[in-house]
Amino acid sequence: MTTIRLPMMGLVVLIGTTGSGKSTFAATHFGPFETVSSDYCRGLVADDVNDQSASTAAFDLLHHIVGVRLARGRFTVVDATNLTRSARASLIALAKEHDVLPSALVLDVPTQVAIQRHQARTDRPFGVDVIRRQRAQVPRGVGALRKEGFRNVYLLDSEQEIADVEIVRTP
Ligand code: CTP
Ligand code: MG
Repeated sequence: MTTIRLPMMGLVVLIGTTGSGKSTFAATHFGPFETVSSDYCRGLVADDVNDQSASTAAFDLLHHIVGVRLARGRFTVVDATNLTRSARASLIALAKEHDVLPSALVLDVPTQVAIQRHQARTDRPFGVDVIRRQRAQVPRGVGALRKEGFRNVYLLDSEQEIADVEIVRTP
């Protein structure tokens, strides 16, 4: 069992490829309003959670919602791949702006697992090459993410580890 400690006054950034289990993990451990997802925001601005051409608008909205929640002191989790340094930097900046601690939670499963899950889905209309490319972007070290500004960094790098997690919110 891995105990993950997350500051109650905080922003949690999930990081992982498509199919790594971010949304499943969020639904298991966090409240429905605590989690703000890029898919949901794409849906709100484009009526289509897969419309990549809506990404700029969707992330504007996501950042806005996250900012409003943090301004109101609400614990907030970002469910998006967050695989690029710039995606993470904008979230770290939001946390700083609102004086809360940013935590990073990396969900890393073998590429084959993500691919198998992807192939079992009918709601993701892109090829598996995307997953291979994304997997290469998954941060492997705690140090680099700390350097980016994340206060707490957790790397969960197997299905078992992801399943055996206990989340404790700290004051
Ligand atoms: N899944 C699974 N076992 C898990 C976690 C997820 O079988 N332990 C399945 C889910 O039911 C879903 C697929 O794998 O069909 C992808 O999981 P999801 O949580 O949706 O992954 P995300 O990382 O959120 O993927 P995306 O970035 O595409 O939203
Ligand atoms: Mg998801």
